[in-house]
Amino acid sequence: DNYTGVYRPEIHFSPPQHFMNDPNGLHRDAVGTYHLYYQYNPTGLVAGNQHWGHATSQDLYHWENQPIALYPPTADSQVFSGSAVIDANNTSGFFPNQTNGVVAIYTLNTPTSQVQEIAYSYDGGYTFMRYAGNPVIDVNSTQFRDPKVIWHEQTQRWVMVVAHAQEFVIAFYTSPDLKAWTHVSDFSHQGLLGMQWECPNLVRMPVRDTTTGALTTDQDMYILAISINPGAPLGGSATQYFPGTFDGTTFTAVDGAARLTDFAEDNYAGQFFYGISDDEDPISIAWASNWQYTQQVPTAQEGWRSAMSLPRRNFLTNVPRTGWVLASLPYDLSPVLGRVLFKTEWQTEQATSHTTIPADIRAFYVNVTVSGLPASISADASLDIVFSTAHSQESLACGYFFGGDNGFFLDRGGTHGFRNPFFTNSFSTSVLPREDGVWTMTAVVDRSIIEVFLNGGVASATSTFFSTQTLTSVSVSTTGMPSGTTTEWEVRALENTWR
Ligand code: FRU
Repeated sequence: DNYTGVYRPEIHFSPPQHFMNDPNGLHRDAVGTYHLYYQYNPTGLVAGNQHWGHATSQDLYHWENQPIALYPPTADSQVFSGSAVIDANNTSGFFPNQTNGVVAIYTLNTPTSQVQEIAYSYDGGYTFMRYAGNPVIDVNSTQFRDPKVIWHEQTQRWVMVVAHAQEFVIAFYTSPDLKAWTHVSDFSHQGLLGMQWECPNLVRMPVRDTTTGALTTDQDMYILAISINPGAPLGGSATQYFPGTFDGTTFTAVDGAARLTDFAEDNYAGQFFYGISDDEDPISIAWASNWQYTQQVPTAQEGWRSAMSLPRRNFLTNVPRTGWVLASLPYDLSPVLGRVLFKTEWQTEQATSHTTIPADIRAFYVNVTVSGLPASISADASLDIVFSTAHSQESLACGYFFGGDNGFFLDRGGTHGFRNPFFTNSFSTSVLPREDGVWTMTAVVDRSIIEVFLNGGVASATSTFFSTQTLTSVSVSTTGMPSGTTTEWEVRALENTWR
């Protein structure tokens, strides 16, 4: 496999070649191996002919490409998105002699229908057999897809969420055995509609304190995430979520408000791993692209299209002024975090510092922390970060205004590898400094993807960018900072996982 192209991410997953979209079947197996399946066209650089590609990892960063796991059964069918579970107690009856049986639950798409099917694996998720009794759910629809299944401990049943895409309905089904499914409730017409609802996820969420990150209560909260495409607020695809509660049959949102998982436009169809215990934070991976331009991006010149987001650790937190937020942070980066390349700090109100990334490093991590911030700050106190190529021919920029509307922006308009009317230049969000007077930004810059996390993950952005040359420098500057504040920043190398 050739992972050397200028656009190839070094710590993000991307397919060896051809077109990829949604993550599917995410699970961690009994021996601790993470399985990532994905919507895959093994014969083209655009969507179509959908299979389930497969990769495995011990740490969520170093991936090993595996043979295709699910093939369409007929020439006119496609295996669309879905999920996977480990049937350790043999509820399905497929696994009398083992505890590591895997069941995949997916949509079979044909020109005349979308139905839910299952397939089972005796070898821990590498090869699958199609269940002879398929389909397991057929409601005579052409727009009914993306089943996501979890185990609900209290009711001792499997619970599926699945989208009636063009009716804006998420249907809830339960089952004792993954074969017989009963429709138990619907969630519909809340938040944003766009033109379709896809890839729902129901997941239990721990609640953490916004400032300390400590678990705050043993409140039993869930989120229902729903991906919207097309017609999302920034164009094309986006994912919204609803915090709420789930009693085994019905999901009740805390309110009807629309909340988005990301403030840029390359985070879609995120899925949460099966097999993560209740005392860990849920782990997710999303598709880092957007249907509005994914089939035009220039990575095709390297023979592949689309990467996944970083693996994320997720929790709910109640942010002052904002209310409930699904926070996310990169999952433990230590397997890829390399040496410190640069580190500095200042107390002055105005300063600029700059570092050049060594030629052997092409993906890097940046952390900026401002502390000692007073409660009220003038609107022109700001911080700017610029990543640029040699001679500043291309650049990627972000920055934050500490007062005013507390805006943070991310601007990819200074990169020149891709032009498209829907590939918009800049994105922004508003986030207050934390109540303890600290503001942080963590960024992972990886060839053609940047991910940004503010204040411990209460806001995040996933953005592709296509700079035709490698970004080789980072500069950070502040102006008008209130006295008593300290600005610190460091850059660390990220180690290429495909070497
Ligand atoms: C979302 C989606 C799903 C569908 C799959 C097909 O990106 O449209 O609804 O199952 O992609 O590849």
